[in-house]
Amino acid sequence: MEHDLMRILTGGWVAEATFAAVRLGVADSLAGQRLRPAELALRVGAHAGSLHRLLRLLAGVGLVDVDDDDRYGLTPMGAMLERDRLGPLAALYGEDYFGTAWRGLTHTLRTGERAFDHVFGRPVFAHLANDPDKASVFNTGMAAGAAFFREVPVAHDFSGARTVVDLAGGTGALLAAVLRDHPAARGVLFDLPEVVAAAPPHLERMEVLDRCELVAGDLFESVPRGGDVYLLSRILHDWDDERCARLLATCAAAMDKGAQLLIVERVVSAATYLPLAYDLHMMVMTGGRERTEEEYRVLLEGAGLVPGKLVELPLGMHLLTATR
Ligand SMILES: C[S@@+](CC[C@H](N)C(=O)[O-])C[C@H]1O[C@@H](n2cnc3c(N)ncnc32)[C@H](O)[C@@H]1O
Repeated sequence: MEHDLMRILTGGWVAEATFAAVRLGVADSLAGQRLRPAELALRVGAHAGSLHRLLRLLAGVGLVDVDDDDRYGLTPMGAMLERDRLGPLAALYGEDYFGTAWRGLTHTLRTGERAFDHVFGRPVFAHLANDPDKASVFNTGMAAGAAFFREVPVAHDFSGARTVVDLAGGTGALLAAVLRDHPAARGVLFDLPEVVAAAPPHLERMEVLDRCELVAGDLFESVPRGGDVYLLSRILHDWDDERCARLLATCAAAMDKGAQLLIVERVVSAATYLPLAYDLHMMVMTGGRERTEEEYRVLLEGAGLVPGKLVELPLGMHLLTATR
């Protein structure tokens, strides 16, 4: 029992050690090869003795392993921290402002007020809007943590969709995944002005830019009309029920009868650790929350939408369909 408790109490240190390894590029340097600490230190520009101690801890938690020759290599889990996999998500979670915002949790627990706004004096998206470097780490991290996007066109039949509108779609990773599977469809990427402005290189890399219209705006004011399918991925969990009701009403007002809205979220189904950890994270960062299927259904029905089936996606994510 003490052991389990101590694991919890030191969990933040392990996360910090992992973030530091990601900042140094340890996983990318170990990809496909084993290196001694001194060799790795040369490649990543680190102090060999300190790096060796970091590697021992990373071995203890299963991110790397070591052979008899003191050469370290990535385990399959450690390889997931490479740059083209979940490395950018780890880099995002290791941003200073994430940790600082969590320091405000006690304030939230005492007052119900948003931790992030209490600590930084403004909401997180306003914070990002004023800092292109942070915004870039945020957008890249969100896109990297979205391997499940590939499964969305498998889980939902987009064959009749001519226009797919990705609402608050970031730099368009989900929209691109859908359009790549459906060459006849066109896309509309909708987000805040500074986010939409950063999207073209990402859409170009995914070879869908020529089929995309970029629209800047505010979800709570109005969203583009005329879509056959609207995507709302990892958005509702950013907001409290009142704001969700407002933004769903805005979506419903833009949708023609028969149009579909696809909600992509992490649905809370039982007292499992991960959705509940994200629930607290949303409480800290945005004042949002993770919800049960029933809570999503109530929100959708409140906006005059008819909820349909719930489909599981990888990484604990879900797809919930609703029709206007
Ligand atoms: C958590 S990210 C999700 C991005 C993307 N849908 C995904 O799943 O990767 C939230 C997005 O909401 C956008 N956003 C926040 N407030 C908004 C608003 N009022 N109007 C439009 N977009 C907004 C942010 O710029 C950001 O791209």
